[in-house]
Amino acid sequence: MRLFSFPHYKSFWRSSIAFAFFLTFLTLQTQSTPIPCNKDPYKELNLIPNKNGTVTRPNKPPESPPAPDPNLNTLVLSKDISINQSKGTWARVYLPRVALDHSSKLPLLVFYHGGGFIFLGAASTIFHNFCFNMANDVVAVIASIEYRLAPEHRLPAAYEDAVEALQWIKTNKDDWLTNYVDYSNVFLMGSSAGGNIAYNAGLRAATVDGTYNQIPKIKGLILVQPFFSGTQRTGSELRLENEPHLALCVNDALWELSLPVGVDRDHEYCNPTAGNGPKRLEIIKRRGWWVLVTGCGGDPLVDRQVQLVRLMQRKGVRVLGHFTPGDYHGVQDSDPLKARELYGVIKTFISALN
Ligand SMILES: *[C@@H]1O[C@H](CO)[C@@H](O)[C@H](O)[C@H]1NC(C)=O
Ligand SMILES: *[C@@H]1O[C@H](CO)[C@@H](O)[C@H](O)[C@H]1NC(C)=O
Repeated sequence: MRLFSFPHYKSFWRSSIAFAFFLTFLTLQTQSTPIPCNKDPYKELNLIPNKNGTVTRPNKPPESPPAPDPNLNTLVLSKDISINQSKGTWARVYLPRVALDHSSKLPLLVFYHGGGFIFLGAASTIFHNFCFNMANDVVAVIASIEYRLAPEHRLPAAYEDAVEALQWIKTNKDDWLTNYVDYSNVFLMGSSAGGNIAYNAGLRAATVDGTYNQIPKIKGLILVQPFFSGTQRTGSELRLENEPHLALCVNDALWELSLPVGVDRDHEYCNPTAGNGPKRLEIIKRRGWWVLVTGCGGDPLVDRQVQLVRLMQRKGVRVLGHFTPGDYHGVQDSDPLKARELYGVIKTFISALN
């Protein structure tokens, strides 16, 4: 475990372990009593289900345009590039100006945004700002992927788009990517539902040699508060049942709308520790990827994230869990200071591997 012998890594890892003990205590209180939902999840989500299986999303979240002009006085340039027009998929690529000025090669983070598989996009202002600042702080090129949303396109549509994006990254001739990306330093990353997509798309691409040869060499996965669930409730789900940022019944409704029709929450897309999940983890080990999982004690999903880290450890996957007390699901999208801290953790992770 050379990674953890770095001086700055010791305290980093120690705090993760200390917090994991705190979580163990909470996990012991797990029950499986079903909880009545005291909210209308569709009202909470501001979603109107239609008879034909689509939903109407009355609130259009704010979007931001890219800024591709190198003459602009900005720390990070950005531009949109089509991936597959027939599906409406594309990437917003972020290039820190330092790369342009010094002609240096940078790590590439392929970023899948959150939004419960149902909401938001690569142009959404919250993710535009998040990726812009991440490119600047981590000093990396970011490719933020626009994928198809559920329930119009249920899983695995998002995973297919995510894998297609990786194939596109390998073959496209865009000058930013070809000139400034260090292709030995590529990571799949996502927050919340995007963390789930990075995980599942990574596994899809890694399982079949034919597909694996069509994507860039992946160095690791960065899963920020990854969105997973299961039929059995965990201690943190019960403890934080009515957490205002992600109430349990809202969480369940998101899965209802995004999983294939007729499967339950122990499906491998949703619960990586159930069924065939532990076996699938061996692929990550075989490919030699490093994994960073981050989470926080105020997120109902934290126990599952810790369970996943433990399972990976048992399977011999090179995984680092970084868990902090307090906070809430999606905190990095609304609190710039928390986002900054996260960029620091990601930067440390990436540089420790080089
Ligand atoms: C589904 O129904 C909604 C609302 O009635 C409508 O706006 C939409 O065009 C329909 N979509 C399809 C694919 O039929
Ligand atoms: C785009 O997606 C369609 C539908 O999945 C597929 O048939 C086609 O090959 C894709 N096009 C490209 C350029 O990859």
